[in-house]
Amino acid sequence: MIKLAVVGIGRMGGRHARNLIKGVVKNARLVAVCDTDGDRLSEFCDRYKVAGFADHIKMIEEVRPDGVIIATPHYSHVSIALDCVERDVNILVEKPISVTVKEACRLTDALAEKPRLIAAIMFNQRTNRLYRKAKQLIEGGALGDIQRVNFTVTDWYRTQFYYDMGGWRASWSGEGGGTLINQCVHQLDILQWLIGMPENITAFCRTVDRDITTENDVTAVMRYKNFDCVFTASTHELPGTRLLEIAGDRGKLSIGKYSMRYVRNKMSEREVNARATRDYGNSQDKKTVSRTYRYGLSRLIFDGIYGQQARILKNFASAIENSDRDMLIARAEEGLNGLSLINAMNRSAWLGESVTMPADCDRYADMLAEKIKEEKNIKG
Ligand SMILES: NC(=O)c1ccc[n+]([C@@H]2O[C@H](COP(=O)([O-])OP(=O)(O)OC[C@H]3O[C@@H](n4cnc5c(N)ncnc54)[C@H](O)[C@@H]3O)[C@@H](O)[C@H]2O)c1
Repeated sequence: MIKLAVVGIGRMGGRHARNLIKGVVKNARLVAVCDTDGDRLSEFCDRYKVAGFADHIKMIEEVRPDGVIIATPHYSHVSIALDCVERDVNILVEKPISVTVKEACRLTDALAEKPRLIAAIMFNQRTNRLYRKAKQLIEGGALGDIQRVNFTVTDWYRTQFYYDMGGWRASWSGEGGGTLINQCVHQLDILQWLIGMPENITAFCRTVDRDITTENDVTAVMRYKNFDCVFTASTHELPGTRLLEIAGDRGKLSIGKYSMRYVRNKMSEREVNARATRDYGNSQDKKTVSRTYRYGLSRLIFDGIYGQQARILKNFASAIENSDRDMLIARAEEGLNGLSLINAMNRSAWLGESVTMPADCDRYADMLAEKIKEEKNIKG
């Protein structure tokens, strides 16, 4: 049995801990939890009869877990992870890996020194079978050369009540950002996982109808070598939309929340154009075949009860059991790409200019420190 411990038993860490207690991960059990909120800790430990600690180092040294799940607010992810790595304890870090690429590199550098350690990141959207199928299709050449990408994610609605919970949310000092670092970190990971990294980013950020200091509305244009991607995200729209469209010369993927449509051109657009003897091309040449893939009812039910995150927990425990980091759905280091996109989008929006990738991560860390100072002046 793999022994797991959870640091931070708030909304998400509490769920991870309860999933372990319920036996959702067959080959793992919860051996301890840690939280700096004494009331929350004692309530949890009394209820579930599990060992509790206010300090994660004490917990690691006394309990010696095989793996630690880190589910604290963002700024503490790297320091807690480093304490585990130094003590040769496997880690599963909640997203984002950190707030800045500069800070995240402290962890990835330490991990490079310990190649046998299992270090994962909670990118649970990667368990979505629609995105997994999309990746397989793209890598198999089903779309041909990508020509356009649009990703609209406005269905992760958040209220003022949500922002007021926990105190750290949607502030530069507490969370290190708003919708980009919290929600979009998932979708930007999916984007880079499917289509790679852009050469250049221009972003526009706003705060709409919420009393927060960070953005909750983003539009970004990402320029790739041969195509552009428009990314639109917000957490204030009702009803929201989730649609990822990836169009290539051989076909198109339209990925919604519960289904994905794949349309294949019987003849690639380039061939249609090359052979055309009429201004709009011949209708015969523009024939397509399509197929729809669905999320799956049993997966929806499982996710509804335990969360997609439970699949990442299972994967983490199995990777530890097999001492095989290549089994991981997402290695911790893979958190760097999405974070680079987020840092670049913030920077572009603050400066009102495009950012060439890879961006200077020291410069972003300095700019964020300035932003935190400004925020302190505003809030007093
Ligand atoms: N994967 C997902 O889909 C998903 C969803 C929600 C939140 N999250 C992530 O989970 C993490 C936590 O978010 P949340 O919504 O659960 O926050 P939360 O505020 O509900 O819980 C955080 C908990 O961490 C505790 N804590 C803070 N500093 C600590 C420390 N140094 N040591 C021990 N405990 C500490 C707090 O007391 C609190 O109980 C964040 O990284 C967030 O982005 C992920």
